[in-house]
Amino acid sequence: MWVPILERAELRGLLWLEGPTPLLPLAEFIAAISLTAALIGQSRLLEPALTATSETMPSESSALSGERTGLQFPSIIGQSEKMQKVFEAIQRVSRTKANVLLRGESGTGKELVARAIHQFSPRASKPFVVVNCAALPESLIESELFGHEKGSFTGAVVSRQGRFEQADGGTVFLDEIGDISRIVQIKLLRFLQERKFERVGGKKTFSVDVRIIAATNRNLEGAVVEGQFREDLFYRLNVVPIYLPPLRERKEDIPSLVGHFLARFNAENGKRVKISAPAMDLIMGYPWPGNVRELENCVERMVVMAVRDVISPEEVPLPYGHLTSLAPPSPTQGPQEDTPPLTQTLEEMERRRIEEALKRCGNVQAKAARLLGITQRQIGYKIKKFGIQIDL
Ligand SMILES: Nc1ncnc2c1ncn2[C@@H]1O[C@H](COP(=O)(O)OP(=O)(O)OP(=O)(O)O)[C@@H](O)[C@H]1O
Ligand SMILES: [Mg+2]
Repeated sequence: MWVPILERAELRGLLWLEGPTPLLPLAEFIAAISLTAALIGQSRLLEPALTATSETMPSESSALSGERTGLQFPSIIGQSEKMQKVFEAIQRVSRTKANVLLRGESGTGKELVARAIHQFSPRASKPFVVVNCAALPESLIESELFGHEKGSFTGAVVSRQGRFEQADGGTVFLDEIGDISRIVQIKLLRFLQERKFERVGGKKTFSVDVRIIAATNRNLEGAVVEGQFREDLFYRLNVVPIYLPPLRERKEDIPSLVGHFLARFNAENGKRVKISAPAMDLIMGYPWPGNVRELENCVERMVVMAVRDVISPEEVPLPYGHLTSLAPPSPTQGPQEDTPPLTQTLEEMERRRIEEALKRCGNVQAKAARLLGITQRQIGYKIKKFGIQIDL
């Protein structure tokens, strides 16, 4: 006997039954089998949703899988022991409401970790609000955090909610916390102690439920000793400290980070760029003072600029001096053409590459496009975008 398996009324398969005559009356037997087929159809519908959930949850990968072991978070790469410790801390702390202080050099992933803590906390469906304390002038930071009432200062034409109010039920990420003034430190301390505040120029007391994650790349202990940062505030923020190690101390993470960024930028740029073994050696040997952010920018540049599918060491955009570990230039030689300074923007580099390709191909756009591995339409667009003059 055949029973159809349906998914939203569409035929997706057939359930085939064979064997001796069933003990149940035929009508009941057919009903039971139809129900089984309906459940199969329904579970097929649910399957993608379940897979998506398990992909977004951090997991302890099974030792049986034989692949990546240990804790994993979907957007954070790190197999090294040091990063595994960070993952453990994220997992443990995300279930609680404790304040977290993220420490680590610039580009080590502090904001990424703050987002992960929020994402895997019971507050995930509520807002995650970022306040960059260094980017705000002192006069504005108080009203940014706590809000203000209409007319409280020149320009305050309407009342406005602050970030703490906006984040009610969720998480506030106070980035560059080491940069806030003594006055704001006092207000923040009161908020952390009582979870209460008034808007600037207002009398009404507000009370909100937010989790605070702060971050800094400064030596806060030093600032406390020098009297620039309040000790009591430091202890309030530092309930759970999480330290993000610099990339040079976890070089074993570099290959998977490179793979992760290559996949992303290849997809974004419609390319299939790979890194040659000597280029990878060069990447592994560099100290990455700008940490993961610098590595990410480097991989993006390589993908965008790649002329062929396999990156050679000369194409790794490291600062002048690092490429020379492979082929030292003579002292009289100036900086290598292929080693643009780090301050050069991606657009400038791209423009230069296009001009160079056009020059090499005698201004024949089709040839230059082939050389760059892009289509004729793409090169035409870029020539227009950058306003490149072509002498015919
Ligand atoms: N472990 C990681 N896996 C994948 N991407 C990462 C990782 N760490 C950092 N990144 C990426 O590197 C970039 C810098 O990370 P992030 O902004 O979190 O650093 P940060 O510590 O906050 O730096 P800063 O102190 O300069 O603000 C981001 O684009 C982030 O996605
Ligand atoms: Mg940051």
